[in-house]
Order: sequence, then C-alpha cells, then structure tokens
Amino acid sequence: MDYDRPLFFHVMEYAAAADRDVIGMVSGSPDWEPPVALRDGLADYVNADSEAFQYPPSEGLGELREEIAARRNVDVERVIVTNGAGEANYLAMAGALDRHEERTSASEEPTFVLTDPVYPYYPAKSDLLDANREFVAAEPDGTLDPAAVHEQATAAGDDLAAIVVNTPNNPTGAVYDRATMAELAAIAGERDAVLIADEVYDRYDYTGRFESALTLDVDDVVVTNAFSKSMAITGLRVGYAVLPEAMVGGARTRHMLVNVATSRPAQQAVLEALRETGPEYYQRNRERMSDRVATFTDALDAAGAEYTEPDGGFYVMARFEEFPGTLENVKRLVDEVGVAGMPGEAFGDAREEWIRFALVTPRVEEAADRLASFFA
Ligand SMILES: Cc1ncc(COP(=O)(O)O)c(C=O)c1O
Repeated sequence: MDYDRPLFFHVMEYAAAADRDVIGMVSGSPDWEPPVALRDGLADYVNADSEAFQYPPSEGLGELREEIAARRNVDVERVIVTNGAGEANYLAMAGALDRHEERTSASEEPTFVLTDPVYPYYPAKSDLLDANREFVAAEPDGTLDPAAVHEQATAAGDDLAAIVVNTPNNPTGAVYDRATMAELAAIAGERDAVLIADEVYDRYDYTGRFESALTLDVDDVVVTNAFSKSMAITGLRVGYAVLPEAMVGGARTRHMLVNVATSRPAQQAVLEALRETGPEYYQRNRERMSDRVATFTDALDAAGAEYTEPDGGFYVMARFEEFPGTLENVKRLVDEVGVAGMPGEAFGDAREEWIRFALVTPRVEEAADRLASFFA
C-alpha cells in the first residue's frame, strides 16, 4: 500500500512556499489557548514520580475514564481513551465491521453509509478496512434528510454495517437535531447496523440545538469524541469512544495491539483540565468562533458568494461565481489573494465547486477583506 498523502498537506505546503503573506485557513487547529489547568497539569507532571512515566492502563487512566463516563452518563466500562477522535473513529468503524460479520455471515460487501460532503478520513478509513462506502448527499443547508439515508440504507440491505455521521459537521457546519439523530439510529437499528456519531465539535454549537447521540435511548450507537478541539490541544492526542458493551472487547484489543496505550501525561493533564475548567472557557471559545463566522459570512455576502451558514464547528463552505473550488483555483487564491482554503473535491462530489475555509486563525477579518476585495 502506498502512502496516501491527504490533500490538505499539499495545500498547506503550497501556501507555506508562496512568495507572499498567506492567511492559512486549511486545517482545523485552534489558534487559542488551552485551559490554564491543562498547562498546569503538564507542568506538574515534570516533577511526578518515575512511576508516572510508565505504561498507563491500555484502555485509559481509570480516573479519566470515570470522569468521562460521569459526564456522559454512561457505564465506565463502555469508555476507551484513544489517540484522538481519529483513532476512536477507526475503532468504531472496524468494530462495526466485526459486528456485521458476526451477525450476517452472508454479506460480502459490508457497507458504510456516509454523507457527501464528508470528512475525508471516513471514506479513507472505509478503504483501509476494505469496506464499501455509499454516500448520501446533504441538503443545500448541510443538514441530512433521514429519508435519503433510509433509501441508501435500504439499497445496502444486509450489507449495511454502519451509518457514520459527524455533528456539528466538518465541512458544512450543520448541526443535526435530536430528531434526525434518533431517526438515523432507528434506520441503522432496522438493519442491525450501528450508528457512529463523531461529536468532536460538540463544544462549538452556535444554535443550542446539538444533543449528543448518547442521550438517545438506543443500544447500537457509538459516540466518538476528543479534547483536541474542545481544549485546543490537537497535538496532545486524547480522545475517546463510548461503545455498546458488545463492541468494547474488540475495540480494546485493537487499541492495545496498535498503540499499547495513549500518552499518560497527556491523559493526566486532560483529567486535571476537565476537573478544573468551568463553562466560561468553552463559552469564550464558542463565542469567538461564532463572531468569526459572522465576520466571514458578511464578507462572503460582500463578495457575492454562495455559502452554507454554519450552525456549528470551525468551517465555512463557499462558492464564488465563475470560480469553482478546484485545486488550481485554491492555488490562485493563495498566490493572488493570500488566503489558503481547501478545495471542495476533498470532501466528495457534491461540493466540488466549493471551497472550505477553516476559521481558526486570528486573521479571519483580514482574510475576509482580502476575499471581498478580490471577488467584489
Ligand atoms: C470530523 C472530525 N473528526 C475527527 C477529527 C480528528 O480529531 P482528532 O484530532 O481528535 O483525532 C477531525 C479533525 O479535524 C474532524 O474534523
């Protein structure tokens, strides 16, 4: 297997090599501070006993799992601490295939139903896992019509292993409401499949509509999450999966055999930050992002662009008249405007003409002005 270099690396490299000042709006790394308690936790760790530098339990520090379980109102045995939401998604998808195989030995083409546009690591993970993937086009406002998912799930029939969704959504910014999530869980349930809900942007819901899939009263839901975005620590690699009991064993085995465990100092610091950080930290970050969305979409209006108004998350997708969001045009924006976004093609077929902008830079206003004057 060859190394499959993600497109965003390519764009970031292109932007870094440009012969001018470029505002990076490619990747979703927060530009704000982690909680104070997180830094304190890491600083304290330096003086910990040598024992604290040895293997933690593979499934995660007991106290961290308990803290997560209490907050999510689930049995602690269902929680596995992972290397970010990325690993949690992998464990969820691999586990869905195991479960599918156990239940329907006849199926030769286990299938994931995904959305289009899609967070590109889901189809890539499907490929890695040798599974089939089918897409359901999102509505123009980015939301998902459960009837369309039902149609695709019906077409997949016994092959359906899981429906994989992300809310608040990367790249559309849609927040799926509770009724939608309940319907998606029911559709998966009808086929004895799993609903996987990636909730890594749960702290960035601008509408107040978001509700975790864990609050649904159903069994076959896996929720994945991480502290990467909520605590602005994408580099620390601490996330988790909450799995149905029957999927825990497989996930623990995979996690142990691939990673042994997740970094102990990182888990300890996250634990302290969870305990010490009040709601105002999250609220401040949410408000900052929501202000940026307003600034950026005002400029898109001035530029005459079409865009999806985000209800959550870090991203805005926009389409400029007679300027399709191809890689070539994204490079033109780097060179001529000094703004780097992501070509729509990275997220599937439905938004090939669009460009995704990540609003995790303090220079959103400047980027917005640059785009508005280029396109006006
Ligand atoms: C939808 C989604 N899921 C998962 C991830 C990866 O999260 P983590 O850094 O915690 O692995 C990202 C990162 O951008 C994301 O956008």
